[in-house]
Amino acid sequence: MVDTLNNWEDGHWIGQTLEVENGVCAVPKKMKTGALAYTDEVRAATDHLYEQVSTFIPKFEWPAYAPLVHAINQLKKQKNAVILAHNYMTPDIFALIGDYKGDSLGLAIEATKTDADIIVQAGVHFMAETSKILCPDKKVLIPSLRAGCSLASSITGDDMRLIKQRYPNVPIVTYVNATADVKAETDICCTSSNAVQVVESLGVPKVIMAPDEFLAKNVANMTDVEIIAWHGRCEVHARFSATDVREMRAAHPGVVVLAHPECPPDVVIESDFTGSTKAMSDYVSDNKPKNVILLTECSMSDNVAMANPDVDFVRPCNLCPHMKRITLQNIYECLRDEKHEVKIPKHIAIKARRAVQRMIDLPPPGKKGHFDPKAVHKDIKVI
Ligand code: 13P
Ligand code: SF4
Repeated sequence: MVDTLNNWEDGHWIGQTLEVENGVCAVPKKMKTGALAYTDEVRAATDHLYEQVSTFIPKFEWPAYAPLVHAINQLKKQKNAVILAHNYMTPDIFALIGDYKGDSLGLAIEATKTDADIIVQAGVHFMAETSKILCPDKKVLIPSLRAGCSLASSITGDDMRLIKQRYPNVPIVTYVNATADVKAETDICCTSSNAVQVVESLGVPKVIMAPDEFLAKNVANMTDVEIIAWHGRCEVHARFSATDVREMRAAHPGVVVLAHPECPPDVVIESDFTGSTKAMSDYVSDNKPKNVILLTECSMSDNVAMANPDVDFVRPCNLCPHMKRITLQNIYECLRDEKHEVKIPKHIAIKARRAVQRMIDLPPPGKKGHFDPKAVHKDIKVI
């Protein structure tokens, strides 16, 4: 007996329930036609993709994802568009429609290499601005204008000008998690994967780092350069504490703890390894720990788990509400309508580009991108 409960309205999934066949969930066989329906054509074009995300998307929900995935992949071809997907995107975006995936530095470098006409940034606003700064002639789209960042909103161009007045001879290193007008006032940008290298590349005894206080403190522990930090924090990573790490280790003996350098320094001290989102991902692939905890945004564990099915993940994580504003639906709409184009006034973009390009021109950071948990802790000035 087939008991059909209606999941669909005008060809659209309305997310209720599914056919139940002898008590077993089954994918509805016949969908209504209409825009983005789960047609036979969509099914044929997407069936092979499901396997990659089968641990995150129940089979019965696939008909809600597949039409969007199919439509986005078609639009990309029609419009010569690429999707740059950050490691914090949900697995459907990351695995099924992302053309380039990685950390902030990797995505910025990919932006400079692509010959696409349109870049869709599946990430937050500062990342889209970085792509636009590097590719002024391309159309850069951000699927949600509300995909911000607590670090980027902790400092303004006016703050930067005040800092420069107060510390006229001290260069400023700005984390890419900042708006274009802040980048325009900086000497050089950095990301979490090259921050120590960038600071040391300047060859000066003292630098100001903005806007992440914890990244600055973690960098200070790794270098002889004196660091003055701006007081911004990542609302996601600042919530992890050293006590959390000790409790997780007690609950999961032998677990390997990886942390992002936006975490407070006492969390870094308690971790086994600290690096950018890419460095954490590479650590898992290279070392295959039996059991691992990633102290970072939640989707990161999902994406790294997809690539490492033989590794067990303990998943205490914090959601980034900004990253989670990017969805398959708004990626589809932004690409279809070419809306939410990132625009930066030319005079700001030119100045910001100098600072971003100066960072990109450095050689790959290698082990300089890793933070030593045993490094001696230093107290630094926070402004
Ligand atoms: P990554 O550069 O390590 O990808 O980090 C970006 C970010 O926003 C982390 O919160
Ligand atoms: Fe910003 Fe933190 Fe979200 Fe990264 S995780 S985008 S730093 S708020």
